[in-house]
Amino acid sequence: MPRLFYLAWWQLRAWCGRKAPLQSVIFILDKCNLRCKHCSVYAISTPRIKTLAQIREELEYCYAQGSRFVDFEGGELYLWRDNSNAERPYDINDVVDLAHKIGFWNVTITTNAQLSFVGTHADQVWVSMDGIKEWHDNIRGAGTFERLERNIALYAQEMEDGRWKMEDGRCKKRRAPVCVNMVINNENCDSIDATMEYVKANPNIDKISVNFHTPFSETEHLFLDPDKRNAIIDKLLDYKRRGYPIMNSRSGLKAMKMKNGKTLCTDKYCWITNFIFSDGSRAPKCMGYTHGVCDRCGFSMGGEMSAVGRMKFDTLISGMKLRVG
Ligand SMILES: C[S@@+](CC[C@H](N)C(=O)[O-])C[C@H]1O[C@@H](n2cnc3c(N)ncnc32)[C@H](O)[C@@H]1O
Repeated sequence: MPRLFYLAWWQLRAWCGRKAPLQSVIFILDKCNLRCKHCSVYAISTPRIKTLAQIREELEYCYAQGSRFVDFEGGELYLWRDNSNAERPYDINDVVDLAHKIGFWNVTITTNAQLSFVGTHADQVWVSMDGIKEWHDNIRGAGTFERLERNIALYAQEMEDGRWKMEDGRCKKRRAPVCVNMVINNENCDSIDATMEYVKANPNIDKISVNFHTPFSETEHLFLDPDKRNAIIDKLLDYKRRGYPIMNSRSGLKAMKMKNGKTLCTDKYCWITNFIFSDGSRAPKCMGYTHGVCDRCGFSMGGEMSAVGRMKFDTLISGMKLRVG
């Protein structure tokens, strides 16, 4: 209940003009083990990897701003290590534990699932899946879908009884929901139907979140034609109506539609999430804002924040289910 009071207080302050983030995205490294066609993160020549001390400082900053939900991003989080600990290198679970200790209510991680995530301490795992089989491999590299599928199955198998114990005895926890995060572009847009059927039939995947390619520099060619994007959103709304496990809310999906070359979800409410990038720079909005591509934004989060800002009931409920439980 205190959490509901906090959210009501946050909302009240927002109505009074106080723009405090409720959610934070912290990039902890930009080193990656894949070279995905649509992503520009890996292209950085000398990858940056934060220390746990730096992440602690950033988490405390976000918490003090009012944020209570944190998403860790990369690069690939399962490559993150900090060797400053004498006993064993710190890993991503130490980062997640730290966020919980500071007081964050809900902590998520995003991974490409090329490495095992069995034993995660996160409250949700986002696995990036850009279609199935050859569709995914075309974007992310040969063999990546098979490894992803194997690691998702392995996680489910290890969690079968609903509980797990870390080998090093650090923590015992419930199975975290596994959601796949798809980015639709003009090379994988014809895989939607197959992907929806796959997700629905896969007992190890809880939900799918759908995004559209955001045209950062050098990846503009993957941007999907707006009419096609609108038609796909109508199709997704229909899948959702038929009970397919789509994470995006109906209002969030509608906000991602495009008109006259621009998304309906302006960046008006994007301050709900603040960002700290791998170089340590802090921003009240995402990198799309910095790169001037908000009018062609494809991030599902943009649609959801726009719907939260406009007090869309379905989005508020699905956000609460996802983040507050
Ligand atoms: C930067 S990646 C890093 C996390 C992890 N290594 C992975 O591949 O999942 C985080 C998410 O951003 C998505 N992404 C990357 N470039 C994008 C773009 N131009 N538009 C929309 N989403 C993008 C990826 O597909 C992935 O789900």
